[in-house]
Amino acid sequence: MAVQISPSILTADFARLADVAAEVGAAADWLHVDVMDNHFVPNLTIGLPVVESLLKATELPLDCHLMIENPDRWAPAYAEAGAGSVTIHAEAAKAPVRTLREIRRAGARAGFALNPGSAVQPYEDLLPEIDMLLVMTVEPGFGGQPFLDIMLPKIRKARELIDKHGGEIWLQVDGGVSAKTIERCAEAGADVFVAGNAVYGSDDPAQAVRSLRAQAER
Ligand code: DX5
Ligand code: ZN
Repeated sequence: MAVQISPSILTADFARLADVAAEVGAAADWLHVDVMDNHFVPNLTIGLPVVESLLKATELPLDCHLMIENPDRWAPAYAEAGAGSVTIHAEAAKAPVRTLREIRRAGARAGFALNPGSAVQPYEDLLPEIDMLLVMTVEPGFGGQPFLDIMLPKIRKARELIDKHGGEIWLQVDGGVSAKTIERCAEAGADVFVAGNAVYGSDDPAQAVRSLRAQAER
């Protein structure tokens, strides 16, 4: 699978999201949108109305990462609105199979995320329902946290299970991904890289995306 970069807008300026999307423009593959409800994580960001506006403001497909308590209720609506990918958390979903299927039925890719404390092995049987597995490399909630390198073995394990399964499942990493850490993630088997601070903390976000991609492809 080719390397893909999904810049996270979490630490960008929320008052000018259309410009924020344009700043990475064609250099990025996706725009990563962190939806937080102040229940699943201790932070509150944006929800469906903002995602609907953002869909009209950019041609980049939206990679919506739902860090919310009740993804079964909300995830299909993000897919119906036009998000290209909708990711729910293993720790929050009560009916993951139904919800993943509803995401797909609404035309989006179905993502499934694991917090640092969740092992990947218990979810092996769900792989046929998943288009992208997300291994969190920080505790979710905030941008700019240091990369947890104790997650590298889990990325490797996830890669092994995906390869054994044989389908085309993408393996995403999110949290602390930067010029210092992206090569280790790629080497462990990740192919979709979320980067917030490493992109929007830079003076030239598009160039930051290009150089992250070059490093991951090495
Ligand atoms: C954290 C979010 C991430 C975050 C990544 O809960 O899911 O997407 O924005 O930001 P950085 O790359 O700065 O760790
Ligand atoms: Zn995220």
